[in-house]
Amino acid sequence: METRTALVTGAAQGLGQEFAVALAGRGYRVAGIDLVPQPETAQRVLDYVELIADVTDEEQIGAALERVIDQFGTLHVLVNNAGVYPESPFEDITPEDWRRIMRVNLEAPFLVTRAALPYLKAAGWGRIVNITSAAVLTAPPTMVAYVSSKAGLIGFTRALASALGPYDITVNAIAPSMVRTATAERTVGADGGFEHVRAQQAVPRTQEPSDLVSTLLYVVDPGSGFLTGQTLNVAGGSAYL
Ligand SMILES: NC(=O)c1ccc[n+]([C@@H]2O[C@H](COP(=O)([O-])OP(=O)(O)OC[C@H]3O[C@@H](n4cnc5c(N)ncnc54)[C@H](O)[C@@H]3O)[C@@H](O)[C@H]2O)c1
Repeated sequence: METRTALVTGAAQGLGQEFAVALAGRGYRVAGIDLVPQPETAQRVLDYVELIADVTDEEQIGAALERVIDQFGTLHVLVNNAGVYPESPFEDITPEDWRRIMRVNLEAPFLVTRAALPYLKAAGWGRIVNITSAAVLTAPPTMVAYVSSKAGLIGFTRALASALGPYDITVNAIAPSMVRTATAERTVGADGGFEHVRAQQAVPRTQEPSDLVSTLLYVVDPGSGFLTGQTLNVAGGSAYL
């Protein structure tokens, strides 16, 4: 069997680290991009390729992709996971805040996908997974920029699926609820945030990163070639598509 290869953005911690570990567990060779070093991920993933790059910077992405291909020779799976989710009242969002959130959450998946596409095409099949959010459905009032960026990512997912279907490359999105990661615990989950979201869910517990693994593995499976353009809402029933 050919060795499958994957690139995960935002892989230093949280969901990205969980996805990198899960893919490695399925026999994928895994590279991860993050702004910061990724010692924990490297410890948990055999033969991990650690890339320090800003996913909003075209040049840094190009160099990172070159290293992936140097190491692996091929690329099958791209997980656009890096993202930011600051909360603030709408009136306090500055144009700079808005642009930063759009750049990291929406423009970066475009840039990384654009750089990865020639390699996915060359591999003969590919899987692109964009990490959006169930907040697109619940639309919290303090996350106007974030929800806008993640709704854009769903549109990107659909239209890109239409564009890449002929290459046997699927494009899907996964929409988690509020997940217990260090960043969420420090920000949106603090001051009762987890309890609030738990009360919106049909499943009355806090979502853990491991709750998303089976969906990721299903979506990237070579047997899932007819699943494309979809948003899989893995959110404990907090909202229904
Ligand atoms: N945790 C949640 O509750 C939750 C819920 C729904 C969706 N999501 C989405 O899941 C993804 C991961 O969330 P998380 O909680 O694991 O976040 P996290 O903050 O734990 O991890 C995100 C990683 O992305 C990296 N990153 C940020 N900007 C970057 C950039 N410009 N270039 C390279 N790397 C960058 C960070 O350094 C960090 O390591 C995000 O897209 C988030 O919007 C999270």
